[in-house]
Amino acid sequence: MAMAYLVSLFMVMEMIAISRFGFGVDGLRMDYYMMSCPLAEFIVKNTVNRALQDDPTLAAALVRMHFHDCFIEGCDGSVLIDSTKDNKAEKDSPGNLSLRGYEVIDDAKEQLEEQCPDIVSCADIVAMAARDAVFWAGGPVYDIPKGRRDGRRSKIEDTINLPFPSFNTSQLIQAFGRRGFSAQEMVALSGAHTLGVARCSSFKSRLSNADPTLDSDFAKILSQTCSAGDNAVQRFDFTPNTFDNYYFNTLIRRNGLLFSDQQLYATPRTRAIVNGYAMNQAMFFFDFQQAMVKMGTLDVKEGPNGEVRENCRKIN
Ligand code: HEM
Ligand SMILES: *[C@@H]1O[C@H](CO)[C@@H](O)[C@H](O)[C@H]1NC(C)=O
Ligand SMILES: *[C@@H]1O[C@H](CO)[C@@H](O)[C@H](O)[C@H]1NC(C)=O
Repeated sequence: MAMAYLVSLFMVMEMIAISRFGFGVDGLRMDYYMMSCPLAEFIVKNTVNRALQDDPTLAAALVRMHFHDCFIEGCDGSVLIDSTKDNKAEKDSPGNLSLRGYEVIDDAKEQLEEQCPDIVSCADIVAMAARDAVFWAGGPVYDIPKGRRDGRRSKIEDTINLPFPSFNTSQLIQAFGRRGFSAQEMVALSGAHTLGVARCSSFKSRLSNADPTLDSDFAKILSQTCSAGDNAVQRFDFTPNTFDNYYFNTLIRRNGLLFSDQQLYATPRTRAIVNGYAMNQAMFFFDFQQAMVKMGTLDVKEGPNGEVRENCRKIN
């Protein structure tokens, strides 16, 4: 009874969410490729599903790629550009911090170029792939508007605009606030850390500085991980390939992996949101999908401000 009510409430809310974005945010549209490349969504989903069957850890990589793309220069595929002899691209920054999954995007792009050349942007492929990865890993299903155009700039120095794992709550709220996100949306988006891993280099300073927000038994596990070197990885929660709300429960146990993760629980301002998501997965899923759709519209390029790249790694 209560379940049925929740499900129907969820569906109504989803309809509202979809209709709100139905008629283009910044000229984006749900049905953007309906006439020009009707199989676009299908091809991306199939490619992602096949890649994730071979390597489930790529779900995390694809979700993170979309985040990095959008937070630097807007969602314009700039994260995909390879460096050239005249230009050091975003990819080569220390902030690239082990981004992976580029071949999945290349694979989808190749098929799309065969089906409908010069139509589907790399930025849209990244956005769709992230969405499909979330669903594949057990997260919410949602529709996203499309029509992003690819950018022509990718500079290593722009990656300074990514949030750092050393950020405290005020810095996190500020970094996301600058892009129009509320504290609640920032916490929901951080829930993407239900997927994947981080390298020792991203959290080892918590060990040497004896971070008081870190559980002491968990600190021992992290020290053990780091004994294998800076590139040794630790999962964010017990289910790194499953999209669930377990991440928020780890924060309550002070087992947050990054300093920035644990900050969300350490500060009263965001603790209540963490508690809410830890108790109610449906609420987390709903807020997450809304925030992802919003993130996917950050500074998108239209018309002559962008292009549809032929090869996602190179400006046309
Ligand atoms: C709140 C601020 C955030 C900070 C400071 C942050 C920082 C980081 C760091 C340091 C790593 C580990 C990188 C490494 O050591 O290799 C990581 C991984 C990851 N991040 Fe974030 N992140 C943030 C928000 C987000 C958001 C908004 C998303 C997506 C919506 C996201 C998705 C991911 C995923 C999925 C991984 C795992 C990647 C993998 O396993 O390959 N993060 N993040
Ligand atoms: C960033 O990516 C480049 C290649 O794409 C790689 O050579 C470099 O080591 C990476 N940097 C870090 C810190 O992971
Ligand atoms: C967060 O970090 C900034 C920069 O280091 C610092 O100025 C600020 O006081 C910190 N805020 C809190 C609440 O600790």
